[in-house]
Amino acid sequence: MTDVLLSVEGLTVHRGARRILDDVSFSLGRGETLALVGESGAGKSTIAAALMGLLAGQARVEGTAAFDEAPDLLSLPEKAWNRLRGRRLAMIFQDAGAALNPCYTVGSQLTTVLRRQLSLGRAEARARAIALLESVGLNDAAARMSAYPHQLSGGMQQRVMVAIALACDPDLLFADEPTSALDVTIQAQIVRLILDQTKQKGASCIFVLHDLALASQSCDRIVVLYAGQVMEAGPSETVLRDPRHPYTRLLKSCVIEIGTSELDPPPGSVPGYDDLPAGCRFASRCPRALPRCRTDKPRLEEVAGRSLACWNPEEAA
Ligand SMILES: Nc1ncnc2c1ncn2[C@@H]1O[C@H](COP(=O)(O)OP(=O)(O)OP(=O)(O)O)[C@@H](O)[C@H]1O
Ligand code: SF4
Ligand SMILES: [Mg+2]
Repeated sequence: MTDVLLSVEGLTVHRGARRILDDVSFSLGRGETLALVGESGAGKSTIAAALMGLLAGQARVEGTAAFDEAPDLLSLPEKAWNRLRGRRLAMIFQDAGAALNPCYTVGSQLTTVLRRQLSLGRAEARARAIALLESVGLNDAAARMSAYPHQLSGGMQQRVMVAIALACDPDLLFADEPTSALDVTIQAQIVRLILDQTKQKGASCIFVLHDLALASQSCDRIVVLYAGQVMEAGPSETVLRDPRHPYTRLLKSCVIEIGTSELDPPPGSVPGYDDLPAGCRFASRCPRALPRCRTDKPRLEEVAGRSLACWNPEEAA
């Protein structure tokens, strides 16, 4: 990776006595797309929330996250966040219908962001808002400016959310399952739109995806999470062509067996955060577990072009 935009080291999040994220480390290059993959409760949204500075007062956060010239996002005061959030880092939420304000028109919500963040004048903000709506594929964009969110379909609302998130040309975009509230026929279009738009603008994107095939086709890097820990991470092509972590391999085999790219849960269940094992968190479901896996926690180490946390990885293909 030549030009690193984000470098997360040892991100650990405690909610009360529960260690929701444990020593999560990964990095992302400028203009790269990264997929966070893992079963429900793995901590994907918590990573996005921590890196957007949204956990203040709710959780104890440790570790560092160097972002461009900001030495550590995780220790930034709220005042500094107000200059970064929405401008350098933006987020597309899962449910656009809930994230958009029902009391204001689409145009008013977009121009407010443009005027506040970029100090544009009224006419300039309007022209840019229309151009943004056109760029996200909203036909009749000028007329849509005066529509209220409820007058748009779910797909159109999500396109508006994408336009708002991209309004200030952020360096890093978080998209947390941005299509799970949408009809399945629209999902692929919106994912493609987000990926195309971020690539076009040279932005980086952290995508929470439940679709392994899509992750491998469209994301440069992948981070596989299990119960709050990184199990395997690296270039998507390397990790998914030849997964070395038993959990990644299990996820991949489920996709092949079920014959769909959707991430269906493999057999067994994720341990509860109140009752985590001392060793590897995947040990109770792992077909390759050794006695030491139950007592010693494997650390994330560089192995064959990827990061891997496992005492007994699969053989290389
Ligand atoms: N506000 C909260 N208060 C307490 N615990 C929370 C809160 N939000 C998340 N958690 C817990 O943190 C853990 C990780 O949750 P998170 O939402 O990050 O997982 P996820 O990987 O995004 O899952 P999903 O795929 O279901 O969205 C879960 O055990 C969850 O119950
Ligand atoms: S550390 Fe042990 S239990 Fe954990 S994934 Fe590797 S082999 Fe399986
Ligand atoms: Mg989530």
